[in-house]
Amino acid sequence: MQQSPGVKVTASAPCSSANLGSGFDNLAIALDAFHDRITVVDHDGFSIIGDGVPSDPERNTAGLAALKLIDDFDLSRDLEIRIEKGVPKGLGLGSSGASAAAAVKALDEYFDLGLSQDEMISYAMIGEIASSGSPHPDNVSASISGGLVLVTRDGGLRASKINISGDYRFLIAIPDVITENKTRAARQMLPPSISLESYSRSIGRVASLIAGFMSGNRDLIRAGMNDDVVEPSRISLFPYYHKMKRMALANEAVGVAVSGAGPSILMVCDDMTEVSPIIEGTHAIFAEYGISGRIIEAKVSGGAYVEGSPVSD
Ligand code: HSE
Repeated sequence: MQQSPGVKVTASAPCSSANLGSGFDNLAIALDAFHDRITVVDHDGFSIIGDGVPSDPERNTAGLAALKLIDDFDLSRDLEIRIEKGVPKGLGLGSSGASAAAAVKALDEYFDLGLSQDEMISYAMIGEIASSGSPHPDNVSASISGGLVLVTRDGGLRASKINISGDYRFLIAIPDVITENKTRAARQMLPPSISLESYSRSIGRVASLIAGFMSGNRDLIRAGMNDDVVEPSRISLFPYYHKMKRMALANEAVGVAVSGAGPSILMVCDDMTEVSPIIEGTHAIFAEYGISGRIIEAKVSGGAYVEGSPVSD
């Protein structure tokens, strides 16, 4: 299939926070703090451009996802992928996933493929291999579908949106710490196996988390935003985490977890949460650890959309 010269499609995808404590590789939430934009335009040959992004598709999440899609559908490679990064890289905010999600969304429109949401996620997650070495689907699921998403892989990938009862805001503590190939390194820190006791506790927590968001029960959410498998194995990437979590919970944050593979920390807030002391406490803890950083507020975001089209939520 070949588009006529001059055709140009731009898609935007939000950042996301994966895991939420107990939901490693299965849960993520789309947040409106940052977005990536991808423009696909006809071009002589395949090209990737953008400030500070690799032009080699094997090293670029948008490019790798795009090539897989193009090859599977036997589409023309004569196009340019223009990447505008709005999601900061390497901070646990689903930056690689947002680019891959926006690329697949834009290509779906550009070639008029009519892909289902789960098909788009399946292609976008291939892009994650370029960044982390693993096609983990959580961040791309949230970036494509929006909201809080559970992604399962029994009998094919399936992303299911979890209805959220209640009005939650999110604080994201973002340190100015960049680790090269962070997600790849963080995945190599994971334990190869876990005990039956940890397995059982993790199941209980993830069930509690989902039930809590669906029913609006903050105690269940809080209980679910805990993990003693993945977060502890990576603690060297975010040594301030436990102190920050204690401080935020003492100020009535609903729950606190490492955002994705870190080093950012996600805090869920409701109308009981004392936001100002948490912001002050976060700055103080970063300073104590000799780190500069910021804390930003976000809301749940809708999913990736083609600019000029109605937003899908
Ligand atoms: N679930 C992934 C991980 C998210 O924790 O490695 C990475 O953003």
